[in-house]
Amino acid sequence: MQILNLNNPYQAPVYFVEHCDSTQSTARNLIPNAPLSGTVVTASYQNKGRGRGTNRLWTAKSGENLLFTVMFHYESVTAIPKAFTLRTGLAAAEAIAEFVPALNALISVKWPNDVMIGSRKVCGILAENDGKYIITGIGINVNQLKFPEEISRKAVSVRQALLELQGGIPPVFDTRGLLEQILPRLQTYLSSSMDDQWNALLQKRIYRRGENVAFIPGQAGSAKKIEGILEGIGPDGELLIKTGTKIQSFITGELEHQYR
Ligand code: BTN
Repeated sequence: MQILNLNNPYQAPVYFVEHCDSTQSTARNLIPNAPLSGTVVTASYQNKGRGRGTNRLWTAKSGENLLFTVMFHYESVTAIPKAFTLRTGLAAAEAIAEFVPALNALISVKWPNDVMIGSRKVCGILAENDGKYIITGIGINVNQLKFPEEISRKAVSVRQALLELQGGIPPVFDTRGLLEQILPRLQTYLSSSMDDQWNALLQKRIYRRGENVAFIPGQAGSAKKIEGILEGIGPDGELLIKTGTKIQSFITGELEHQYR
């Protein structure tokens, strides 16, 4: 593995592999060597890139997008910390917004772990717990202009969004430059000094806040659907939905995709 000469505020290495199964697995393989907290693994291409949920893949053409994993060390960790993926999403959203300011107003965080441009997903987050590390995988569609038919109405890249907004020929973005923007924001939004602030900052970027939404609570595949107004995010990262006069909170489930 190569070490990239990139700014990492965690003072930990940023490893690069051209090709791997998944940066999550490559990162896991480092654990016997006790990697420093904040160690990053990035790759040009993954042949088994993992999405959330069983059998969900995260596929991207070589070199087009940003694919990376950050390893956060804990003395002992029994579960993904509350709001961890939301805070990670906020860091990614703020970094993308600063990277391409023209898109700022369109960027939001979709509960519990996606970043959106408009109503399409630009970034997915997968946090895995190994007992000593939270292995945090982040995939950002950066330069991809074509998506497979089945996700083409749900996915977007930074470059594609800029093309749609401004026309012309948008630049090919430097994925490593974007990685360098994200790392300091991850350090900020995940730090305990943000424990009292992340929620207020996140509320400003919550996808479909104040709108009518359809929500499927519980694990994927559940048949029950709830419709109501997305009120916001509770102190522990729970989703708040108002149905009639009652506000219900949820820790698992999925917002139904809204095609626009
Ligand atoms: C999702 O939205 O389903 C989560 C997608 C996470 C994708 C990233 S790409 C880098 C890292 N390595 C993986 O295999 N998955 C994550």
